[in-house]
Amino acid sequence: SNAKFFVGGNWKCNGSVANVRKLVDELNSGSVPRGVDIICAPPFIYIDYVMQHLDKEKYQLAAQNCWISGNGAYTGEVSAEQLQDFGVPWVILGHSERRSLCGENNEVVAKKTAHALAAGLGVIACVGETLDQRNSGSMFQILNAQMQALVDEVKDWSKVVIAYEPVWAIGTGVVATPEQAQEVHAYLRKFCQSKLGTSIADKLRIIYGGSVNDANCKELSFQEDIDGFLVGGASLKGSSFVTICNAAG
Ligand code: G3H
Repeated sequence: SNAKFFVGGNWKCNGSVANVRKLVDELNSGSVPRGVDIICAPPFIYIDYVMQHLDKEKYQLAAQNCWISGNGAYTGEVSAEQLQDFGVPWVILGHSERRSLCGENNEVVAKKTAHALAAGLGVIACVGETLDQRNSGSMFQILNAQMQALVDEVKDWSKVVIAYEPVWAIGTGVVATPEQAQEVHAYLRKFCQSKLGTSIADKLRIIYGGSVNDANCKELSFQEDIDGFLVGGASLKGSSFVTICNAAG
């Protein structure tokens, strides 16, 4: 599509003070295109450091999660309002690791998304099937349910990015083929066309995640409905991430 290319680096629960400092230095010395939205998502505890030191002309910040409602007696949580207050413009929600390890279901993810949008954040909302679901033929049903929950809650889609992350491709080194990814991205866009109309669907960024690296990103980027990437492992290496940021198709 014609949507502005979008590359997110999801650092997950990785890093140390020393590593984060090194990664920020590598990112700052990298040359990245101006016409691409590039987002870095450090663990909460490093966001302050990254905000102070990362080149904001090149990179924007995201959190990897936030709470489902506003401030209050929610021990251990960080609210969308706090992210907004702190100047973090984006949040990743519904990552498969949060769905599978923290019990976040479609409704929770959709409610978090609506709340974060209302607080003024942009949301990278993640969807994707497991290998069992793909092999048993329920992939599109699973994706429908994940997307429909979002459609039911989200009122303004202008600050939503959909990340398609097949669970079997995350952290496995098994990247979806360009054809596999394109098939699902086109399906997701069609789903959004039918539910939200063409003008929203055509502008919606649908990015791919799952074992993206500096060697496979270019070919994926040529696919019509792939508008960028959500990168895990390869986002921890400055030079690899910078290469991926330069892969706009
Ligand atoms: O959010 C990122 C994805 O889970 C992809 O992770 O690039 O390490 O496979 P990965």
